[in-house]
Amino acid sequence: SDILEAIERKKRGGELPEPLIRSVVSGYTAGEIPDYQMAALLMAIFIRGMSYGETLALTRAMADSGRRYSFPECVDKHSTGGVGDKVSLTALPLAAACGAPVAKLSGRGLGITGGTVDKLESIPGLSCALTEERFRRQVEEVGLAIAEAGELAPADRAIYALRDATGTVDSLPLIGSSIVSKKAATGAGHLLYDVKCGSGAFMRTRREARELAGLLVRLSADLGIRASAVISDMSHPLGRAVGNALEVRESLRFLRGEGAPEDLAAVARAVAVRLLELKGVPEPERAVERALASGQAYELFARFVRAQGGDEGALERLPLSPRVREVRSPAAGHVERFDALGVGRAALLLGAGRRKKGDPVDHGAGVELLVGPGERVEEGQAVARLYGDRDAERAAGLVAGALRLSPEPAPPPPAILDSL
Ligand code: URA
Repeated sequence: SDILEAIERKKRGGELPEPLIRSVVSGYTAGEIPDYQMAALLMAIFIRGMSYGETLALTRAMADSGRRYSFPECVDKHSTGGVGDKVSLTALPLAAACGAPVAKLSGRGLGITGGTVDKLESIPGLSCALTEERFRRQVEEVGLAIAEAGELAPADRAIYALRDATGTVDSLPLIGSSIVSKKAATGAGHLLYDVKCGSGAFMRTRREARELAGLLVRLSADLGIRASAVISDMSHPLGRAVGNALEVRESLRFLRGEGAPEDLAAVARAVAVRLLELKGVPEPERAVERALASGQAYELFARFVRAQGGDEGALERLPLSPRVREVRSPAAGHVERFDALGVGRAALLLGAGRRKKGDPVDHGAGVELLVGPGERVEEGQAVARLYGDRDAERAAGLVAGALRLSPEPAPPPPAILDSL
């Protein structure tokens, strides 16, 4: 059978021809290939790797495994996931307000990585369960629609679940094909990848992040998508809010021009500008500044919220957990950063995230950092506020342990580390 032939070839380091890849992907998606055989193939791929040609064939086969949308005029972005990552909530309304329509499918959070759907659902009434027709109409009428990824690329959903259970997630060709197959099925013609790099991200080093970014851009181009990438810092959470409602609140403040942490403002602007460049909008920097200063970016977000059933009035008072406690600095010094992984784990414990698929999240839970890189703190000064009533003691220990202090003030790391 094809699956046995694929396992035999790959375990010896051979190349899998495209028809064989297609046959295996469709056979597994249809339930005709058992998990144990697919798991053996995935482990062989993990160990032996895949050529670029095989990776592209796998990406195509997964993109074609279900329905495919087509939004050639639209822009989209993808983040490889991080802590406090609210770039979709900020850069997308901004790009849309500058004339780049956005058709985006998003997911839910898992582990320390948040998901845009969970964040948006902290707005009372808002739903991301849009039919294709409503999604399409909203893209035309509002210029921004965000729906929960549903039936697209079913092969990726099945294979990802198996990878998760067999230690085969962290393989570059498998990650690249997984991400790009979903983006290709979503169908936007212009795509910006935000590859996160640091302790709170999948990619820990810049070299790894650059390698993934290069693969994502190349695969996208071969599938007819205009794509580029930025590599952004995830050694520290993005902005100061981690947790669903807290992150929406911080994003609203940015969109209204009420002030935002420098790193968030820098990444949101950079991503919006790159999307406008991909789309060919002239003078993208000026367009972005105008949309922020005129209130159009916020107005577009408010229209998007109403269109998806959200209560615009509730944006002023998003429900936060009433259980609040403060974390105090164990020493005096200058804040270098909060380790993103520690803060992400604390938010997860407090209830902002889910340990396994299907767990409920507490939209009002999370961590609010009260000081940022470069600032001086005294011993005993409050440095973070925790929201949520689960595991608050352990969460407080994690946040205190995540605080990195140095005797001298050090400049914060640049928010955008690299781009291609
Ligand atoms: N995100 C994905 O969508 N797929 C992967 O394989 C890894 C991260």
